[in-house]
Amino acid sequence: MKSLENFIVPWVKTAEPYSDRHMDIAWENPQIIRMMSNENPLRPSEHILDAIMEAARLGNLYPGSGPHLRQKLGEKASLTADHVVLGNGSTDVINFVAHTFVVPGDEAVIPIPTFPMYEARVKIAGGIAVQVPMTPEFYWDMEAIFKAITLKTKLIFICSPNNPTGNQIEEKDLLRILELGIPTFFDEAYYELENEVVSRALLIEKYPHMMVNRTFSKAFGLAGFRVGYILCDPKLASYFNSVRFPWNVSSIAIAAALAGLEDIEDQEQKRKNVIVGRDYILNEINKIHGLRALPSEGNFVLIDASVLDKDSLEIRDKMSAKGIYIRPMSGHNMAGGFIRVTVGTPEQNRFFIETFREYCREIMGVDF
Ligand SMILES: Cc1ncc(COP(=O)(O)O)c(C=O)c1O
Repeated sequence: MKSLENFIVPWVKTAEPYSDRHMDIAWENPQIIRMMSNENPLRPSEHILDAIMEAARLGNLYPGSGPHLRQKLGEKASLTADHVVLGNGSTDVINFVAHTFVVPGDEAVIPIPTFPMYEARVKIAGGIAVQVPMTPEFYWDMEAIFKAITLKTKLIFICSPNNPTGNQIEEKDLLRILELGIPTFFDEAYYELENEVVSRALLIEKYPHMMVNRTFSKAFGLAGFRVGYILCDPKLASYFNSVRFPWNVSSIAIAAALAGLEDIEDQEQKRKNVIVGRDYILNEINKIHGLRALPSEGNFVLIDASVLDKDSLEIRDKMSAKGIYIRPMSGHNMAGGFIRVTVGTPEQNRFFIETFREYCREIMGVDF
């Protein structure tokens, strides 16, 4: 009998899975503070919980494509329901976009460091992830991006604010990329948390090959329910509707998202928590001799801790032993001592700073 291995699709065999082991470990150790996955530390509001309960009572029925939610999201972006396709989290969106454009051998240009899911899903579609390092100052290397484009390029991924660097691409540079006419996935997962909220979604009217990704996992704090969406030209939306699964978002998730959109007070509280928290972390880290925290427009802060001369995995292990999970950036194509910390509650942020300062003191042997 032939080995089962012979039946596995070759690029599935060689693709490294996106590991969610860190999530399992965090669920197994609820006493350790979760500052590793850009979750929102604030729980769903009562209004959202009531809406979920109401939807749960109709749990015997299949959901549809979420027309009411799509209409609201279309209006929010000054577009229509036909411009919106929902995903089971925006991770699902990334997957159906990759499968719409990429066949084996095609290329996708991905400036790095960025969200590793783009690379993972392009590879599962049989595509080649052409990774283009950002400049040493962590800005998009425009010339290198243009050089990486070939006749096989089917997708370009731009994440802004970028996870993990926290910065935004300037509009003039985004326009240069859009002028290429290549399908461009523009990820606005964190846009509601920008200091001055500016969306680029209306560019899809001039550039129908542009898609804008968004999620309820970050600013709205609904990561556990899994709701993301893409804003795009209605023609493109109809292709995505063919590729995605029907009923890909549950009725509970749709109800949670709708209630989240209605709850302005909850949104404001969550936004304020992130903005105050990231400024606090940034300022406190930059006071530690030799460490550098990058300004961020997301719910996370990237820290260059190379001065400690420790690998980011070792920093992660030492910090988890002290009660906090942070993210080593080795999994985001970053060598050395880069770590990313998610903004928590004010108490969690303070605990992180005190703990990290203590760790730095132990290694560097100086007081700060
Ligand atoms: C840039 C970016 N896009 C998308 C996602 C995925 O979010 P979702 O929970 O909607 O799948 C993340 C999650 O960290 C992210 O950083």
